[in-house]
Amino acid sequence: MKKFIIDGGVRLHGEVKVSGSKNSCLPIMAATLLAPGKHLIHGVPKLGDIHTMMQILRVTGASVDWYKGAEESRLKDHTLIIDTSEVNNSEIPYEIVSKMRASFLVTGALLGRLGSAHVARPGGCAIGHRPIDEHLYGFKMLGAQLEEKHGYIHAKGNSLVGTEIHLNEQSVTATENILLASVTARGKTHIINGAKEPHIIELINFLNSIGTEIELENDIIMINGRSSLDQLHPSEYEISADYIEAGTLMIAAVITNGDITLIRARWEDLTALITKLQEIGATLEKTNNGIRVKKNNVSKPCSIKTSPYPGFPTDLQPQLTSLLSIANGTSVVTETMFEQRFNHIPELVRMGAQIEVDGRSAVINGVQSLSGAQVMASDIRGGAALVLAGLSAKGKTEISRIYHIERGYEGLEVKLRGLGANIKKV
Ligand code: EPU
Repeated sequence: MKKFIIDGGVRLHGEVKVSGSKNSCLPIMAATLLAPGKHLIHGVPKLGDIHTMMQILRVTGASVDWYKGAEESRLKDHTLIIDTSEVNNSEIPYEIVSKMRASFLVTGALLGRLGSAHVARPGGCAIGHRPIDEHLYGFKMLGAQLEEKHGYIHAKGNSLVGTEIHLNEQSVTATENILLASVTARGKTHIINGAKEPHIIELINFLNSIGTEIELENDIIMINGRSSLDQLHPSEYEISADYIEAGTLMIAAVITNGDITLIRARWEDLTALITKLQEIGATLEKTNNGIRVKKNNVSKPCSIKTSPYPGFPTDLQPQLTSLLSIANGTSVVTETMFEQRFNHIPELVRMGAQIEVDGRSAVINGVQSLSGAQVMASDIRGGAALVLAGLSAKGKTEISRIYHIERGYEGLEVKLRGLGANIKKV
């Protein structure tokens, strides 16, 4: 099994280009099902979760390939060519859905395209029990008939009708799934209390590029339904930078007292993290093509509470916990989204961190430095937190089960090496 081995203590410096956003790509790949034809999606990160979504699209009858040739300069190494002309299968088996919860995103798109979707119910995962009641509520409100049998959700609806949908939870994938289903619903759909993460905005932009009419006004997502698929057409689209990868690399700069510039990172996506990093003592500046982060003093403690965008992202909580574990004082991290998102903490404690978990909060008493140890990744972001801890620790850190990290970060060790880190994959 592959591992990362890190010799900590090197200050990172230099420039790094942020990859395209995984959590934008996944719903956009599902959205291509709505418009029959050949889509070109640029800037797609080559990651485990993207390969799973490619597999799902192929199951529906789409053809999906990375662009490999060189004859057209606008087509690059990270361009996906998705041809959805022949899509005809609406059953997505458990073997695929069990690999990645976001597989369930194709439900809304298949309902829109084929009038039915038969998708295995996603189970829990390493970060907790993750319900889908909000997704199902939205489909039902649009007029879909739902049945659950043998672990599958069967959704049918040839003539969905737009309506007002009030979500109880600002769920990212529920908002995306409902958006996808409502594109072909007759009349207007309003999603109230939907999520507004940068990847939701990006999905809206992509959908509008295939011919939908969607606006975000006063925090309400308004969809003017298209009565026929003929009104939609394939698109060529460039995915923007992954703000969670950018945030992870920003924390890497701070935890190593380094100085790095993240090319393509967008300031407006990351204000919650930027404010906290400034409080901790880092200097951040907007450059003409990204964000520069530097720090050369002891970190100050701070407290955070995760919440939907524009609040502090749960996907950056584990990484910030690593940083706070070497701050000069006591910090409190409160996780409100996922009940098991402290899986990295026992591993950080093995590296010398002093952290007590009390329900949904972790109280961190900063230590002067962490020490390298053998640790294990158990989810994407918790795994990234261990990499950051290893970069700052004294001595050697060995991280196993890095397949979790590789589901969400493309070439993390290559990027870190380019910034001077002593990290290798063995
Ligand atoms: N929730 C419900 N009912 C639902 C759906 C969600 O109660 O039907 C609750 C959840 O229990 C949770 C909260 O709503 O407390 C937010 O969960 P959400 O549904 O927003 O999570 P998700 O859509 O399954 C996406 C990202 C996650 C990210 C969360 C929160 C994708 C593909 N996944 O998941 O990303 O942590 O939003 O921002 O976009 C990751 O990239 O590592 C990752 C886990």
